Amino acid sequence: MTAPEVPGTGTPDADLPGMVLGVSGGIAAYKACEVLRRFTESGHRVRVVPTEAALNFVGAATFEALSGQPVRTGVFTNVPEVAHVRLGQRADLVVVAPATADLMARLAHGRADDLLTATLLTARCPVLLAPAMHTEMWEHPATRDNVALLRSRGVVVLEPASGRLTGVDTGPGRLPEPSEIVALARLLLERPDALPRDLTGRRVVVSAGGTREPLDPVRFLGNRSSGRQGYAVAQVAAQRGAEVTLVAANTADLTAPAAVRVVRTGSAEQLRLAMLDESKDADVVVMAAAVADFRPVALAEHKIKKGADGPPVVHLTTNPDILAELVGLRPDGQLVVGFAAETGDETGGVLDHARVKLVRKGCDLLLANAVGDGKAFEQPDNGGWLLGSDGTEVELPHGSKALLASRLWDEVAARLG
Ligand code: C5P
Repeated sequence: MTAPEVPGTGTPDADLPGMVLGVSGGIAAYKACEVLRRFTESGHRVRVVPTEAALNFVGAATFEALSGQPVRTGVFTNVPEVAHVRLGQRADLVVVAPATADLMARLAHGRADDLLTATLLTARCPVLLAPAMHTEMWEHPATRDNVALLRSRGVVVLEPASGRLTGVDTGPGRLPEPSEIVALARLLLERPDALPRDLTGRRVVVSAGGTREPLDPVRFLGNRSSGRQGYAVAQVAAQRGAEVTLVAANTADLTAPAAVRVVRTGSAEQLRLAMLDESKDADVVVMAAAVADFRPVALAEHKIKKGADGPPVVHLTTNPDILAELVGLRPDGQLVVGFAAETGDETGGVLDHARVKLVRKGCDLLLANAVGDGKAFEQPDNGGWLLGSDGTEVELPHGSKALLASRLWDEVAARLG
């Protein structure tokens, strides 16, 4: 039995952001539980509104237990509370995961034949749909038209991931990972207009992660870059419509963003070769990877042993500056973006160092992060400055790495015209 519902009335947590999680009837509905859990664990009050079909995959009791809120599907229960309009009116964000072809068709046509579509029709907050369906359904002209129509009305319809679907099929149509849905939902709460489709038709190459310079078969010289900021840059570009290649160095812990092609590399030289190859016909190249400035001159064939004469001496040589090389090779019209992790010192602050670096590297835009004291590295949030070779300097307020990425893409899109 579903508990009686009193929508929108003062619950103890009523001051927290109110989110609606819609779930429509596809096998990926089981992943909605993980999305829900992540939302509630980060402090959101979430009302789950499944379709009747979704309850064939996950029971109402699971959603009620995980959300701590009552769950129902129709508009004819608890009528005096007018839930079919209240939920949409009061929500800060509506996320539908998974959004099936049928749900999007009903929404595109303004149907309001269950609580979820009625909620979507009354919502004036950002709406994020995470589609999941078979490739044939996703590519069908009816679905393409519905997606285009919904996007033209300001609904954010995520690009699905490619990969294993139900059964043995693979292809585009897989639900983006719950962590990605939650990151993009957070982005829309920070900034409702963060995901316009302004990079459609653009080819983008992004490097991310930290290179490892091998010393012997078991050791390397590395750095603390997690790759999260570069992944966010690639993720946001893909969701703004770009065709994205992510050249990743040592980011095995990170989930590949949906609709992004990932090329895996390890050392600076491998990353360099991949970037030179991938960037040839790109509209935008972003060097977010932390590239080692030095590498051992020689790679020992066997593990270096502890010697009687004390520790071995490792001779280093300088790695090429990939960003400078890409700037030198850039075809007409290509935009090149560099990153700079800076700490202030006695000679100047973060911004002073970044201005010097922008000129030295010759790139079109330089995103400067303040690092050290627990800032940026391995952290979910980031802030900094975006400097343009045209003299522009935009401060990037502290927020999620996806928020920083969205500000970067604003500046890039404006320059691409
Ligand atoms: O000089 P610094 O390492 O601070 O410059 C950072 C920028 O230069 C980043 O965009 C980084 O990806 C790039 N870089 C590079 N090749 C190197 C060192 C840094 O492309 N060898």
